[in-house]
Amino acid sequence: MYKKLIYFAGAVLLLAACSGPQSAQDRLTVNDKKIDAVIAQMTLEEKVNMLHSKTNMSSAGVERLGIADMHYADGPFGIREEGVPNGFQSAGWTLDSATYFPAGSALAATWSEELAYKYGTGMGKEARLRGKDVILGPAVNIQRLPVGGRTYEYLSEDPVLSAALALGYTKGVQDQGTAVCIKHFAVNNQETNRGSVDAQVDERTLREIYLKPFQRAIIEGGAMSVMPAYNKVNGDYCSENEHLLNEILRGEWGFKGFTVSDWGGTHSTMGAMLHGLNVQMTGDNYLGQPVIDSIATGALTEDLVDEKVRQILRVRYAIEAVPDNVANQRMTSQPESQDIARQVAEKSVVLLKNEGMLPLDPAVKKIAVIGQNAVLKTQSGGMGAGVKALYEVTPLEGIRKRAGSGVEVTYAPGYKNFPGRRWGPAPAVPDPLEAAAIDEPADPELLAQAVALAKEADVVIFFGGTNKSIETEGSDRQNIDLPTGQNEVVKALFEANPRLVTVLISGGPTDLRRLEPVSPAIVQGWWNGTEGGTALSEVLFGDIAPSGKLPFTFPAKLEDSPAYAMGNFPDKNAGGDLFSLMYRQDVLKMTPAERQAFMDSLPKPVSKYTEGALVGYRWFDTKDVKPMYAFGHGLSYVEFEYGALKATAGKTSVKVSFNLSNAGKMDADEVVQLYVRRVNAKVEWPSKELKAFQRVSLKAGETKTVTLEIPMDELRYWNVEKNAWDLEHGELELLVGAASDDIRQKAGVTI
Ligand code: BGC
Repeated sequence: MYKKLIYFAGAVLLLAACSGPQSAQDRLTVNDKKIDAVIAQMTLEEKVNMLHSKTNMSSAGVERLGIADMHYADGPFGIREEGVPNGFQSAGWTLDSATYFPAGSALAATWSEELAYKYGTGMGKEARLRGKDVILGPAVNIQRLPVGGRTYEYLSEDPVLSAALALGYTKGVQDQGTAVCIKHFAVNNQETNRGSVDAQVDERTLREIYLKPFQRAIIEGGAMSVMPAYNKVNGDYCSENEHLLNEILRGEWGFKGFTVSDWGGTHSTMGAMLHGLNVQMTGDNYLGQPVIDSIATGALTEDLVDEKVRQILRVRYAIEAVPDNVANQRMTSQPESQDIARQVAEKSVVLLKNEGMLPLDPAVKKIAVIGQNAVLKTQSGGMGAGVKALYEVTPLEGIRKRAGSGVEVTYAPGYKNFPGRRWGPAPAVPDPLEAAAIDEPADPELLAQAVALAKEADVVIFFGGTNKSIETEGSDRQNIDLPTGQNEVVKALFEANPRLVTVLISGGPTDLRRLEPVSPAIVQGWWNGTEGGTALSEVLFGDIAPSGKLPFTFPAKLEDSPAYAMGNFPDKNAGGDLFSLMYRQDVLKMTPAERQAFMDSLPKPVSKYTEGALVGYRWFDTKDVKPMYAFGHGLSYVEFEYGALKATAGKTSVKVSFNLSNAGKMDADEVVQLYVRRVNAKVEWPSKELKAFQRVSLKAGETKTVTLEIPMDELRYWNVEKNAWDLEHGELELLVGAASDDIRQKAGVTI
């Protein structure tokens, strides 16, 4: 009996260990024996053939042995349109229209791991329909710069929020039998010189801020593949970074899958082979014949090639290849995913300010919608993150549909649209609604037309913000100013009719100093996917209460934000971007030796991360700088009451419980946020840090008891002396609230 008990306890322990942090990766090794037997049958050429691209979006299998090619698809907000085999140009298919899911910052504004999971399931299913094995997403880098070209692709400025969403997305995709390729590993926070910049970041900041989202998705979510970023981190390219790929990813986190360089982001044969890259995308100039040659000279071993092939095959065996006669038989976009896109969009809309304007008064009979962002589609553009959507409900369409026949909705463009970087050829006849410069002042005619409509309306809804050419992969914004005279337009509208609601359609923050005083209500509406216009109108008309919360700080002015305040960005000696140079015709014509010499002669851009962990609100709080809208901010149509906290600190976690009541007359969600402040700490900490959060749905008048839990591991810091995670014991102040600047209840515990 006693023995049995021991066995039982042993089994429980074993189970606990299996369901522990490493198990999600260890599941990838179940076929290792079979894989080794297959590798034994492969020629060196066949193996090396798996280490580089076959087409722009695939890498080879071994047909002779029944190993299918690996098919990749961008991510992260929709399965990208099918391209021609050797490029990104459209293949001209008809069944490849996908669901356009809300962009990264919109998903993050839901603060919901569950919705991120659903989102992942939609993406994973649509990938299968298209015969894709690997989604190039989620994109989970920390939003360090308000101007970042990919801020909208990324999730949040906070690692805990980013990590929870990255985890949900990863599990959702992979539960559908599709692999994620989480990107861009790591510290990929700017587009300026993205192909050459060296992000110089201290180890503690690296661990606590920049690696966290990857860490959770890999250890807990079992992310099967990882895309090393274009940039360097502390001196080495990410695609050949021993510390990132071999020591941390594989060594510490137990990653068992494979890495795929970002497109054009492989830089050498030896570096990539020795320091953790599996697949060169795209091209074979580094991980093709040179690998075979290096084995012949003894510089590399075939065992290393076997190891890399094993890591690829683990994923190949975990993901069932979709047969050619099964893939692409139906439209990629399916109603189930469209519904998920709507649910996410509904919960992402953030009400920044409301002086009694919203929800719209049911007595309203005439609405003037002003601004091109009400009609511009946001699905395409932005390079890798563009989607050929089956359909997209624009804000104006959403409003018209919801308003119905009894309400007149008028529209005027209000301002010119700045097309920014053009993705296609310039139109033969110039578009009169296009501005020639981003800071072009308001057009007097468009302004007069908009003001005339505003005067006649019961309410004016102004749509401002940016577009996907202004915020895009490949470049950062010069500033966060509202483009093309929008500030003048909104001021004139307010003067014409103060019953004004402003909706911002953008992926990142904008400078609202001039807009805010003339906007009685402000909504952040995002690039919100296929059903974005539907979700927005539901919020504006009060069918649902807004419940999104900002995943990043809206600084009052750009210079207040940490990297700017510290003089770390922009880098005045930036020089040319290696990445774009690599594709320049004259550079392409050079011999390898000439190209190397040319590259070596270029300036070496550096980005210093001396603001350390003080990214986003951590900076604003610690330095006592008031932002325009704080991280976590988002209003509702109801008031929520936060009861007193019951806080306990156990061995493995800290818990806080309290009653949350919806004191309003409609059902609504609140996102409760738990921040931790260290009291009398010896270690240096930001003023406070988000450690847990929860989206809570409450019926009108309902009260629920909410429990938030912080695993003890989440309270650790990276001790640089010990080169390990460490816990600082002592007093913690637990701050629970509706936003980082709206703390409602406090309690203390000692750990
Ligand atoms: C982007 C990646 C993308 C890849 C393939 C690169 O330019 O950085 O995010 O997945 O292209 O489209």
